[in-house]
Amino acid sequence: MRAALKHRRLIGPVVLIVPLLLTLPAQNGARAEQQAAPKATRTIVPLPPSRSLSASQLAGKKLFVQRCSVCHLPGLPSYSTYGPPLDGKLVASRGEAAIRELILHGSARMPGWQYALKPEEINEIIGYLQTLNFTTNE
Ligand code: HEC
Repeated sequence: MRAALKHRRLIGPVVLIVPLLLTLPAQNGARAEQQAAPKATRTIVPLPPSRSLSASQLAGKKLFVQRCSVCHLPGLPSYSTYGPPLDGKLVASRGEAAIRELILHGSARMPGWQYALKPEEINEIIGYLQTLNFTTNE
């Protein structure tokens, strides 16, 4: 009689502990999977909201999105662009004149825009690039 009672007392904790033990390896497995997944090398940095831009910067944004974003804006996290990310720091470090020159004439990998964009439109694009900050993308 006494022995039977003892067993009953034991059943409670066992019922609680067994499912717990069963879930432990599953959790560890999930953690290992997370660690094995490749880390995203780039994150999407939100572009400045359009309402914070002047009319000419906004015109530059429109042109940039139409003509340049295919190579210069990451479309998805961990998606690397064909061309480097462009922002205000890059324009400052290269100098506006050199940036204008490259946009006009292009390079071996980038098309030139001298016949497709007016000088004024290139200025608008450069003005827009100066509003961008891709620090966390590097
Ligand atoms: C076909 C893809 C492509 C398009 C479209 C494109 N670019 Fe580029 N761009 C590149 C590549 C690639 C580079 C890297 C330089 C190189 O390899 O010669 C580059 C470099 C640049 C640089 C210089 C970056 C640096 O590090 O000095 C600027 C500025 C630039 N592009 C601006 C633009 C602008 C503005 C437009 C749109 C009018 C544009 N690009 C369109 C591919 C592109």
